[in-house]
Amino acid sequence: MITSRLRTLRDHIRWAVSRFHEEDLFFGHGTDNAWDEARQLVLGAVHLPWEIADSYLDCRLEVDEIALLQRLIMRRVDERIPTPYLLGEAWFCGMSFIVDDRVLIPRSPIAELIENRFAPWLPDEPARILDLCTGSGCIGIACADVFPDAEVVLADLSYEALEVANKNIERHGVDTRVYTVQGDGFDGLPGQRFDLIVSNPPYVDAEDFADMPDEYQHEPELALACGSDGLNLVRRMLSQAADHLTDKGLLIVEVGNSQVHVQALYPEVDFAWLDFLRGGHGVFMLTAAQCRDHQALFETRV
Ligand SMILES: C[S@@+](CC[C@H](N)C(=O)[O-])C[C@H]1O[C@@H](n2cnc3c(N)ncnc32)[C@H](O)[C@@H]1O
Repeated sequence: MITSRLRTLRDHIRWAVSRFHEEDLFFGHGTDNAWDEARQLVLGAVHLPWEIADSYLDCRLEVDEIALLQRLIMRRVDERIPTPYLLGEAWFCGMSFIVDDRVLIPRSPIAELIENRFAPWLPDEPARILDLCTGSGCIGIACADVFPDAEVVLADLSYEALEVANKNIERHGVDTRVYTVQGDGFDGLPGQRFDLIVSNPPYVDAEDFADMPDEYQHEPELALACGSDGLNLVRRMLSQAADHLTDKGLLIVEVGNSQVHVQALYPEVDFAWLDFLRGGHGVFMLTAAQCRDHQALFETRV
């Protein structure tokens, strides 16, 4: 028997915001404030789109919907579970992806580059694309969406993450030209070359990892931490990228706050650090020629 006085969608959004503020939650998995997070959780839980007209917020809920919403809101507060894990869904490049705690919640600023089809940097339509460290598959599957003739490989060390990526391949109906490969870095891709390699690898340094809010503890550590400077994997990727790019290929890698470590480690290299209109930082681009020219240097600093 429901004794709560909350009845409508709007009541539940207001109540969630009050609880979120009271408990000082952290917002970093798709929203950046309590109002947007509450709207996402409440509407998502009852299978309504985020952009419905506000007049629908005054619709009354069924008893079982009220029980569900109150349970989810309290789990968000008490257990600090990010909303996309509670809903089993995250949005990236306007596309819906299945997520659970086997994969990072999609949020990379690389979405903006994909939406712009990597203009003005990509010289030609890419025939083969690699999403290295794919997690849910969001980057590679969104690339497949904007480049409908491209073959796309989704690679990850984690078999569990690839199970989720495979579900997302199925969800988006791209299994004829998007497939997964398990391996450590480039190890599962001997001799394979790509016109575009995009990667959001684990790159959080030890200091940032120790300071991360509770919400991040629900994400796989393998997806976040990567040694004291966060660059254990990126150093290896740089040393091998030239062997996996076509002549005019591009390498695009997100390193977030570890940009400072990349700049300190390779002062000789002219990385192009990309700008984002919707926010985000620490994404570099190198051409295949730069990867070749600096390969010997990259190999000495692995
Ligand atoms: C930051 S998450 C990125 C996930 C996804 N690309 C996104 O943007 O949401 C990094 C991913 O790299 C994978 N990973 C970690 N170490 C790896 C390695 N040595 N080789 C390949 N993948 C690795 C993790 O399993 C995780 O799925």
